[in-house]
Amino acid sequence: MKVIKPKVFVTRKLPELVEARMMELFDTKLNNSDRPLSDKDLIDVLNNFEIVVPSVSDNLRANILSQSGKRLRLLANFGAGVDHIDLEIANNKNIIITNTPGVLTEDTADMVMSLILSVPRRLSEGEQLVRSGKWTGWSPTHMMGRRIWGKRLGIIGMGRIGQAVARRARGFGISIHYNNRNRLPEIIEDSLEATYWENLEQMIARMDIISINCPLTDETYQLLSKKRLELLLPHAYIVNTSRGEIIDEKALSTFLKENKIAGAGLDVFSSDHGKNNDLFSAPNTVLLPHMGSATVEGRVEMGEKVIINIKTYIDGHRPPDRVII
Ligand code: 8YV
Repeated sequence: MKVIKPKVFVTRKLPELVEARMMELFDTKLNNSDRPLSDKDLIDVLNNFEIVVPSVSDNLRANILSQSGKRLRLLANFGAGVDHIDLEIANNKNIIITNTPGVLTEDTADMVMSLILSVPRRLSEGEQLVRSGKWTGWSPTHMMGRRIWGKRLGIIGMGRIGQAVARRARGFGISIHYNNRNRLPEIIEDSLEATYWENLEQMIARMDIISINCPLTDETYQLLSKKRLELLLPHAYIVNTSRGEIIDEKALSTFLKENKIAGAGLDVFSSDHGKNNDLFSAPNTVLLPHMGSATVEGRVEMGEKVIINIKTYIDGHRPPDRVII
């Protein structure tokens, strides 16, 4: 008897191992070009497939997702953040959303630490100087950055990634402070020697480094507004590996240019690859192309999570990484 496999569409190129397994298990259509789908093509996919595997680069907000067809049952997102998906519309249409939490925690936390180290210690500037051939040799007052040890780190969003950052930062002699919707259980707070700040403004005004590790939601959109950025100490650094929309980028760029903030390490921007982002010309920055979780191991594990979510759905069980609203 011929077994009918469910139709799955994968919107972006995934690691070969993951794609091969998906081809074995499901009736999978891949996007070999790896070009993001146009809105029109995406709507077409949402009308012809039962299962779609989108990524952060797909716009599944209200204007698009509202046009999905009856066939669509599962959006098995390749990624942890689901801010590119309108969860309410998905819920109303009984479309299940799953994501890939947990497997990008350590890689993203490593990237946060890399930025915490590289901005105050001016790694990018130093590297560019050596490569330019303009380096004239060592001098006692050349390329002085700021010491990392002993600094106060304020983590905004103390979920898995925030806690993984805290564990690392403690090893560098940094003291841990955090703001979160909910206070952590005492046992976790104690193990991280973390100080909870219920009031975000009060925390921001006293930190040497701020790391954004909360997801983008309606509540966190522009959380670091111009007014809150104004509270930062002039020697403070900001690190963002979450989503660009959480910061008022225009204000951040102005403050960096006016030396009101010491520097920023940014892996994300409001328009992911936008050409006109004000921050691209801001000084004292390390700017990265959203590569916080981009490791071979992490991407394969994300793919494995997607496969498990699809497989459990097909087998009539509850997918383990269901996003609940
Ligand atoms: C991923 C991310 O690279 O998982 C997330 O939410 O932001 C990234 O680290 C991306 O989402 C892959 O789709």
